[in-house]
Amino acid sequence: MPVTIRRFDLRDFAGVEALWNACFPDDPPHSRAQVAIPQKLAFQPELFWVAIGGERVIGSIMAGYDGHRGWLYSVAVLPGEQGHGLGARLVRTAEDALRALGCTKVNLQVRDTNKAVAGFYAGLGYAEEPRISMGRWLQD
Ligand SMILES: CC(C)(COP(=O)(O)OP(=O)(O)OC[C@H]1O[C@@H](n2cnc3c(N)ncnc32)[C@H](O)[C@@H]1OP(=O)(O)O)[C@@H](O)C(=O)NCCC(=O)NCCS
Repeated sequence: MPVTIRRFDLRDFAGVEALWNACFPDDPPHSRAQVAIPQKLAFQPELFWVAIGGERVIGSIMAGYDGHRGWLYSVAVLPGEQGHGLGARLVRTAEDALRALGCTKVNLQVRDTNKAVAGFYAGLGYAEEPRISMGRWLQD
């Protein structure tokens, strides 16, 4: 089956939502498609890609560049389509776009409940770094 990677389009919403529900069943509400997709479309929407196979959304990746570092998010391939190189293609697509923007370093976070996926990123040249990941919500 030929698989195309292209920029996200609104017609992909339901497909991406289903993909994320399958790949990230434990994600909190703020990471769900209903919240995260409109937020992404409001900021660097060109850094959001889907993989289309058989007219279905079978993969996704989002990236961001803040002028200092690039970040990857929502790297996902539908369970039945995993293991055929699509995840790697998605990561390379985002890296190429970040590099074209002048980005020299890409970061990503892996939930500690999903440590097994670190092997996937290691195979793509990503190294585990000695950092403590911290965050804070800015809403009142
Ligand atoms: C992680 C994910 C995107 C990988 O997609 P994929 O299409 O299966 O990956 P690929 O087929 O491109 O794999 C590329 C390489 O990584 C390896 N790999 C894939 N998953 C791996 C894993 N969990 N551990 C170790 N290696 C892995 C593959 O064997 C392949 O190696 P090769 O090039 O030597 O053959 C996919 O498994 C997925 O969607 N997982 C659920 C969502 C998720 O956890 N996303 C990451 C959030 S941080």
